[in-house]
Amino acid sequence: MKVLLTGATGYIGSAVTDHLHAAGHQVVALTRSAEPQPGRGWDAQLVGDTADPASLAGAVTSDIEAVIHLAPPSGDAEVDTAVIEALAAPLRGTGRPLVYTSGVWVLGATGEAQEVGEDAPTNPIDIVGYRPRIEQAVLAEAAEGVRAVVVRPGIVYGRGGGIPAILVDRARTQGTPEYYGEEGVRWPTVHVDDLAELFVAAVERAEAGTVWHGVGESAVPVRELARAAGRAAGVSTAPHAVPAEQVAEVFGPLFADALALDQSVSGGAARTALDWKPNHPGVIAELESGSYRPAAENTTVAD
Ligand SMILES: NC(=O)c1ccc[n+]([C@@H]2O[C@H](COP(=O)([O-])OP(=O)(O)OC[C@H]3O[C@@H](n4cnc5c(N)ncnc54)[C@H](OP(=O)(O)O)[C@@H]3O)[C@@H](O)[C@H]2O)c1
Repeated sequence: MKVLLTGATGYIGSAVTDHLHAAGHQVVALTRSAEPQPGRGWDAQLVGDTADPASLAGAVTSDIEAVIHLAPPSGDAEVDTAVIEALAAPLRGTGRPLVYTSGVWVLGATGEAQEVGEDAPTNPIDIVGYRPRIEQAVLAEAAEGVRAVVVRPGIVYGRGGGIPAILVDRARTQGTPEYYGEEGVRWPTVHVDDLAELFVAAVERAEAGTVWHGVGESAVPVRELARAAGRAAGVSTAPHAVPAEQVAEVFGPLFADALALDQSVSGGAARTALDWKPNHPGVIAELESGSYRPAAENTTVAD
């Protein structure tokens, strides 16, 4: 398939590009900058900015067989609705996929429930308060003959990036690993390469009007994750909880709430129905001995 990919330069978009290619698909990257980026191996590059929906007109040409929308929303309802309209309208009546990237934070705190599935109601925290509405706008396109699909990734890790990299940096600069919120907070997580495989599965075989949790491990204790981030940073002291006001000062109140969010979310439906097979190491192992270790420690010296 020829796939239009927004957010192609980003953390997840880079992995999705690699996995689309590996599965034999072509990638047309939509980027804000017109600067060519030959190292990325895209098959074509278009310029567009989701803050200016008019700039997306004409991006979904008749040869585009699928759209994966990874660029983050602006939070402005009018702009975000216009972006979905621009991406979906050319696909109406074609049965071609439009895969929208949301996130598990739309579920809010999952409380006593274990391994919450896609049928749970949304209860978004403030940082993603606008997102359920966008999900609904995308899913409504199923009635218009678009294979509309929503993917909700957990906390993404791997390739030395994502939110866990922030914990490693903070452990290094503060000299002690940190976690945020209550001691028992858990995060649903997913390796970026496993998530990229889910996007490939979604464009290839997800049915119209479906939502999928991109979650490899349903509930990783953040205290353990912080301890592993400390080891990645070469810091072996016990993790300490940072008081909420201080977290808000460092990260801003909205992101601070997200970091303190306790969730247990299942990625089981995609494994069963889409034959998704996440097979990368879990986040703790990845932090302790994978891509977050300093480069020198990852180097195998041949003798
Ligand atoms: N990382 C996670 O743990 C996680 C978890 C759940 C959901 N998500 C969601 O997944 C999506 C991708 O996340 P990510 O971690 O890959 O983010 P990222 O590394 O920050 O990448 C964002 C991408 O979107 C592009 N972009 C930003 N603003 C744009 C605009 N106005 N118009 C067009 N392109 C724009 C950026 O392009 P430039 O090169 O031009 O900056 C970049 O390619 C986001 O919607 C995010 O909310 C992420």
